[in-house]
Amino acid sequence: MRKQIAAANWKMNLTYQQAEKLIDDLLALPHQLKENQQVIFAVPFPYLTMVTHKLAGKQNVFVAAQNCYNKKSGAYTGETSVEMLQSIGVHHVVIGHSERREYFHESNEMLAEKVDICLANNITPIFCCGEPLTFREANEQDLFVAKQLLESLYHLSAEDIQKVVIAYEPIWAIGTGKTATNQQAQDIQAFIRHQIAGHYSEAIANNISILYGGSVKAANAKDIFSQADVDGGLVGGASLIADEFNTIINSLK
Ligand code: 13P
Repeated sequence: MRKQIAAANWKMNLTYQQAEKLIDDLLALPHQLKENQQVIFAVPFPYLTMVTHKLAGKQNVFVAAQNCYNKKSGAYTGETSVEMLQSIGVHHVVIGHSERREYFHESNEMLAEKVDICLANNITPIFCCGEPLTFREANEQDLFVAKQLLESLYHLSAEDIQKVVIAYEPIWAIGTGKTATNQQAQDIQAFIRHQIAGHYSEAIANNISILYGGSVKAANAKDIFSQADVDGGLVGGASLIADEFNTIINSLK
């Protein structure tokens, strides 16, 4: 059975002290994860170890990096390898967030390499996809996302594709307060699953968690997560507020 996941993406926010307090506040709030549910915190690199320690021993709770480099090691000043992440106990990495695609020019081809290096090191990629507003307005969101998946994921074996978590994040809904409607999220995420079924099989597609991201908050999480092909969310702004994110966790199916 595929996992239902509440993933926090803190992006480039919070000081170390604020990050510690956020995790402490969140741990003090009541939540009970079912066996099919997971919580993931994608935090800035300098906080990975601290958050890992604070969450030690918690069932179904993981720490993720927000990026990694597509090379194994070497003279790449300022970059972080998956081996480094592995060695500090990090087993998830967000790959291809739209902010990285836009500001750091990450291409589908480069992201395919990042996915490969993660999987080769037993790291779960949380692969982001999603269309800009112009494509949504032209009703070409399916085409746009299909190309992202084709060029970054479909080279994977049937075994490996099932190790990937997909996060659909329409760019026009990120940080804008404008959420996709439940139907819009359901339609495109069903399309993504259908595409995967076509390339692999229905059983494989049904095994893959597909998260929705873009202005998810406590007030709308339950509705969005209730959609059949929405297996939780990747949450930016609302994950920085302990009780907001806790309500989002408690909204998982
Ligand atoms: P917001 O939840 O702030 O819209 O951000 C979504 C996102 O980009 C998560 O990766």
